[in-house]
Amino acid sequence: MGDNAKFSINGEDYEYPVLTGTVGPDVVDIRKLYGQTGAFTYDPGFTSTASCESELTFIDGGEGVLLHRGYPIEQLAEQSSFMEVAHLLLRGELPTADEYSDFTNTITRHTMVHEQLRGFYQGFRRDAHPMAIMCGVVGALSAFYHDSTDINDPAQRMIASHRLVAKMPTIAAMAYKYSIGQPFVYPDNDLSYTGNFLRMTFGVPAEPYEVHPAIEKAMDRIFILHADHEQNASTSTVRLAGSSGANPFACIAAGIACLWGPAHGGANEAALNMLKEIGHPDRIPEYIARAKDKDDPFRLMGFGHRVYKNYDPRASVMQETVREVFETLKVKDPVFDVALQLEEMALNDPYFIDKKLFPNVDFYSGIILSAIGFPTSMFTVLFALARTVGWVAQWNEMISDPGQRIGRPRQLYTGPAKRDYVSIDKR
Ligand code: SDX
Repeated sequence: MGDNAKFSINGEDYEYPVLTGTVGPDVVDIRKLYGQTGAFTYDPGFTSTASCESELTFIDGGEGVLLHRGYPIEQLAEQSSFMEVAHLLLRGELPTADEYSDFTNTITRHTMVHEQLRGFYQGFRRDAHPMAIMCGVVGALSAFYHDSTDINDPAQRMIASHRLVAKMPTIAAMAYKYSIGQPFVYPDNDLSYTGNFLRMTFGVPAEPYEVHPAIEKAMDRIFILHADHEQNASTSTVRLAGSSGANPFACIAAGIACLWGPAHGGANEAALNMLKEIGHPDRIPEYIARAKDKDDPFRLMGFGHRVYKNYDPRASVMQETVREVFETLKVKDPVFDVALQLEEMALNDPYFIDKKLFPNVDFYSGIILSAIGFPTSMFTVLFALARTVGWVAQWNEMISDPGQRIGRPRQLYTGPAKRDYVSIDKR
């Protein structure tokens, strides 16, 4: 711990401890500031605020570094699997062979959903956005699993966590099947986590479905890239919801709702729609000009990041995966060429250079997902499926912290001062 931070207000001097983590910025511990000074700090977008202590994920935005429990995302994406990363985030270490077998068997045996849950889908219109279905159906899980909602029981917390990680693929595949009017496909315990998801999504009861190994590998890598990302908006939503003692299913449903926004997880759907709208490299300058125009609300979707002021390491891996999938499937997509040229032009434009705007995880993901066969409306659902691992890991970390308290921010009040009621005949 370094020297104390010194602070003066209203002619009084105060000192607050500076806490140092393993790596990354120090934090000034201001928990006593309001009690001692009568003043709040003010940080509406939390640009300078650490909301918690965590051992899960570290991001160095300046260097474009992302570590999960110390392991670089590039190594995990290349050498690990989504289930290994799930074990790493949830239990703290990469699993031994026995631990991996035990963990994947546990997850596999929780992939089925209660048969009555199928009825929830009937209540939606066929053209309902799958994210609307995910918000509703995941929140409804709390109505089915009372035996794993006592958040003070570590065993029940872990069962609920396993259920959420295991059932998200099933619920997501069902949302897709419902939207295209095909029958739901039950899980197949002989398949991998990701292979099972692909079969539930693209298979039909009328014939066998062969999981394409290269697609399974690409999909699994995409899940790894989306697993966790420090205290982003949806993770902070899950933590805040969980801080009140809400059950884990309700907390994850809250995270799904937050992720849906186009500034966050909804950007992958918006980015592909934008690339399709641009349509041809000749039209890129027009859209770059719009993105730079203060009077135009248009932004380059999939570009920029609150933390990364360098290349998002996930975007690099994602771009490489696009090349691999296209080569394997022997497909070409003009949208990929538009994306590559858009990136090239933006990264050489002073506006994007000065503001440190680089492609983020959402810029290329839609291109692969589209090539695999997902409609754009399913892109954020896939993001939520993968991020559920990070959400439940962050939720467990928060709930098991003995110092955990309900999150309750304050405000700068700028409304009317106290005034007396005026009856309607005098207004
Ligand atoms: C994700 O937090 C996470 O970790 C999120 C995530 C995760 O894994 O959980 O990484 C996933 O959400 C990735 C981000 C996906 N969103 C998008 O791609 C949408 C487009 N990007 C932007 O809306 C924006 O960059 C944000 C929301 C991502 C970040 O917003 P900030 O940090 O609040 O930055 P800002 O809006 O204050 O922008 C700073 C400046 C502004 O210009 P000035 O007012 O200073 O003149 O940069 C400009 C912005 O206008 N800017 C952009 C831009 N992004 C920022 N200009 C054009 N195009 C863009 N994409």
